[in-house]
Amino acid sequence: MSDGEPRPLEAGRRRTFAIISHPDAGKTTLTEKFLLFAGAVQQAGSVTARAGRRATTSDWMELEKQRGISVSSTVVQFGYRGHTVNLLDTPGHRDFSEDTYRVLAAADAAVMVLDVAKGVEPQTLKLFEVCRSRRLPVLTFLNKCDRPGREPLELLDEIERQIGLAPAPVTWPVGEPGDFRGVLDRRDGSFVQFTRSAHGATVTDEERTGGEEAALRHGTAWDRAVEDCALFDAVGADVDPKTFLAGESTPLFVGSALTNFGVRHLLDAVVDLVPAPAPRADVGGGPRPLDAGFSGFVFKIQANMNPAHRDHVAFVRVCSGHFERGMTLVHGPTGRPFTTKYATSLFGSERLTVDDAWPGDVIGLVNASNLRIGDTLHDGDPVTFPAIPVFAPELIAVARPKDVSRYKQFRRGLDQLAAEGVVQVLHRRGGDPSPVLAAVGAMQFEVLVHRLEHEFGAPVDLEPPASRAVRRTDPATASLLEGTAGVEVLEREDGTLLALFANPYRLDRIVMDHPDWLLDPIVTT
Ligand code: G4P
Repeated sequence: MSDGEPRPLEAGRRRTFAIISHPDAGKTTLTEKFLLFAGAVQQAGSVTARAGRRATTSDWMELEKQRGISVSSTVVQFGYRGHTVNLLDTPGHRDFSEDTYRVLAAADAAVMVLDVAKGVEPQTLKLFEVCRSRRLPVLTFLNKCDRPGREPLELLDEIERQIGLAPAPVTWPVGEPGDFRGVLDRRDGSFVQFTRSAHGATVTDEERTGGEEAALRHGTAWDRAVEDCALFDAVGADVDPKTFLAGESTPLFVGSALTNFGVRHLLDAVVDLVPAPAPRADVGGGPRPLDAGFSGFVFKIQANMNPAHRDHVAFVRVCSGHFERGMTLVHGPTGRPFTTKYATSLFGSERLTVDDAWPGDVIGLVNASNLRIGDTLHDGDPVTFPAIPVFAPELIAVARPKDVSRYKQFRRGLDQLAAEGVVQVLHRRGGDPSPVLAAVGAMQFEVLVHRLEHEFGAPVDLEPPASRAVRRTDPATASLLEGTAGVEVLEREDGTLLALFANPYRLDRIVMDHPDWLLDPIVTT
């Protein structure tokens, strides 16, 4: 490929991020509103998962239809202020899974949405840990300010203590919780008036006035906001690109996604603050220049999105170069050529053909059944990107085929589904040969059971999943652990050793007594 010049330009226009939140904090609503403000849809509610859950999932996985939930994560791409924004969906709710973590490997930043009445919740915290481990910059949105909530200052404190990020408020609420008047924009001291609109189905302009006018209209409510902001000024809680990019501070916005309030501020911040794709380091740590030949890695595999075609889509994050549909790439692990005739992107549940893509973009390669999570694809100079780290599984279940005469199909199915990253398959070292399945979300088991039966003709009996504290370990620690009560060491097909603890207290105790043992909460796929 020799069309050198536009590459850095195209990469520089990309903003690729994911939203992290606890269920019900408003991720879906915010996604819809981003699309609305970007002009990608005319009316909120027409494209995204929530709308899709109800109406347009017709050719998605059967299980998804039965449950009315979204198993698959989608990527939406839209233009805003001359930029191309890629919003990666992190599966949440009941479909929380290893995919949720893997998606963050493909993002350059995250927007953390907190419900102002609830603050930092468990799932947010888990997802944030992944951001921290990947050093992803995080923007924060305090959502649902139109409703009674907690004291905003208390929430700042919580973010600082629980998440360990220094919040830098950009907008700050005016009015008590339950009597939300609007926000003070710290950048210029102006006031943005909150108006209640019916579900914010269409975009309306926000009314902005100067501080003096706001003081006249809102009296003590305005004065209090000004006082709070003086405090932030005094402690230097200002947006600082350096500490934001280092994952030390988080620019914070307040608003109400449902009523559209504050959405534009946040979307502008995505374009202004989220970093454009940077050269990605290969396994040796050397960066692959953005204008080198094409390279990308598979971060998610979605099988059977269309049961009529038994298809298999591998989602690839582009890291360098220019992707053009039809080009022949090299599949890193095997060195074999890989043709890309069928490349798609997804918009809601609609599939579009992708003709070209640039660093930061995500492409879906259809019928790519030989691709595995973490695989690198490249053109030109070879490159291998590091494996994708995910958190250790937390749920364990033993699977047995219902019909032993289908054992071969059962094994084949397990191998395939483990390779796709649906669950991790572990084995006891000696003893019971039944595979032990491990996952971070219960939904992963449901998908496995469903697919083993329907695709591989191997119905299974699955023990009810039990929660366990799990850590990655090494042979030296494993041999010490094996004689220890309340611990069992299992081996994954690729040789990774995982220690299962009877309960978190047992793990804590062992970590305390033996700080030198390798017990890592991060495993790789
Ligand atoms: P999620 O994807 O993070 O799980 O959250 P989602 O957007 O589905 O929002 C969860 C609920 O919170 C929805 O209500 C949604 O309308 C509401 N919500 C989201 N943002 C705001 C906000 O800024 N203010 C208020 N007051 N509510 C908000 P629901 O009743 O579950 O769904 P629906 O009937 O409104 O569709």
